[in-house]
Amino acid sequence: MREVFDTRTDPEEVARQLRFIEEGKKITEKLNAEAGRRMKACVVTFGCQMNARDSEKLTGILANMGFEMTEDENADFVIYNTCSVRDNANQKVYGKLGVLNTYKKRNPHMKIALCGCMTQEESVIDKIQNSYPFVDLIFGTHNLYKFPEYYVYMMQKKGMFIDVWESTTKIVEDLPVIRKYPFKSGVNIMFGCDKFCTYCIVPYVRGRERSREPEEIVSEIEKLVKDGVKEVMLLGQNVNSYGKNLEKKTTFPELLRMVEQIEGLQRIRFMTPYPSDFDDDMIACMKDSKKICRHIHLPLQSGSSRILKKMNRRYTKEEFLELALKLRRELPDVAITTDIIVGFPGETKEDIDETLDVIRKVCFDNAFTFIYSKRTGTPAASMPDQVAEEDIKVWFDEVLSLVQNCAKERTALLQDRIEDVLVEDVNSHDSSLVTGRMSNNTLVHFPGDRSLIGEIVTVKLEECRGFYYLGKRL
Ligand code: SAH
Ligand code: SF4
Ligand code: F3S
Repeated sequence: MREVFDTRTDPEEVARQLRFIEEGKKITEKLNAEAGRRMKACVVTFGCQMNARDSEKLTGILANMGFEMTEDENADFVIYNTCSVRDNANQKVYGKLGVLNTYKKRNPHMKIALCGCMTQEESVIDKIQNSYPFVDLIFGTHNLYKFPEYYVYMMQKKGMFIDVWESTTKIVEDLPVIRKYPFKSGVNIMFGCDKFCTYCIVPYVRGRERSREPEEIVSEIEKLVKDGVKEVMLLGQNVNSYGKNLEKKTTFPELLRMVEQIEGLQRIRFMTPYPSDFDDDMIACMKDSKKICRHIHLPLQSGSSRILKKMNRRYTKEEFLELALKLRRELPDVAITTDIIVGFPGETKEDIDETLDVIRKVCFDNAFTFIYSKRTGTPAASMPDQVAEEDIKVWFDEVLSLVQNCAKERTALLQDRIEDVLVEDVNSHDSSLVTGRMSNNTLVHFPGDRSLIGEIVTVKLEECRGFYYLGKRL
């Protein structure tokens, strides 16, 4: 039997954690008084938008418990919100933990916590216990909402406190949040993934697919808009299977249409759709919408039907091409970006040629290219014919160079266009410029100052610089 999941947030659990936040605040205040300064906390985020959103929750809780937030990891409390999608993400965390240990030796107050996808792997927990005993707290992806409670336990106990769950049926979304950007926000519409692509660890570390009630999503976005948010990104591992476990079934396009109605909201993005679930209603919905951004991130992974099958991706090369070319026809101003994996077990040069063929035919506006990373516990990890590193390197470079040429070609087509740009920040290299994103996600830099951050302004695209533009505000 399928497990029954909650689709609404649990108010009792929210109240319980709010009480722990109050208790945590008292503990922090005592430490502040003893030290004669405010305790500082730092949250470091690895991985995807979901983790970024989770980190905003952690930051909101820490700030409410009286911490001063800093980006400096030499702080009194450091949380690593980890990702395990590829091995290099794990390795990075181990490397950084070593550095934290040197800080901790100098600061008697320092506490270190690990959470996020890595902590859902048993082998990681073993390794931390054996080799990084100075870590104080470990919790997983399913129980992040219990962080206030864990903080209080951690401060009362000595030694490492670990609580990682295999799954949860609960949704707890109403705890304090501090957004990285005041003007844009991620919004979880669903959790987990049921697709089980054979290379991917996400279904194991994020659990089964569960959707939130549309009313709860809409009301969260309404609150965000009141708080100054202009752009939301609806988050899920395959957003177009949204709504399947809801009592009153709602499809993703139906949800999008509800979100579109929210007054004051200006832009809607979503991440990530799954190619074979991207149906005609989705296309119609994007066509009709004034708010949905002109960008679809549509992960291809491989252009070879043979490899796609081994990956358990539920489409063929031809089906992907048909969809992508239909999108190009029906939504000509929409940028299509993708993810590609090079070096999946058993992959040959012929398979890579198929991938190159798809890239050429679709001419993606941008693509992330990843070297296949073996994830223990996934079916692909025990497949024969793991590909030799030398081959992967050559193929990767070939894919990357074609992807970059396509991206440049597509970007160049925008020359002289007049576009609305949401200003995100002052340019990090030249402070006389600000940086923003067009609806299709292309970056534009143009003269302006800090006062424009969070504003949507009209910009003429004057000079193409490869993947981005220099522009002028009109
Ligand atoms: N749910 C999204 C992607 C989640 S992970 C989707 O279906 O597309 C983000 C990207 O990481 C994937 O699209 C894939 O290209 C890459 N990825 C996942 N597992 C990987 C692995 N084991 N090795 C290399 N890349 C991987
Ligand atoms: Fe991983 Fe596939 Fe799920 Fe994406 S759809 S998260 S690649 S299993
Ligand atoms: Fe990484 Fe977890 Fe996201 S594995 S990509 S942080 S869901």
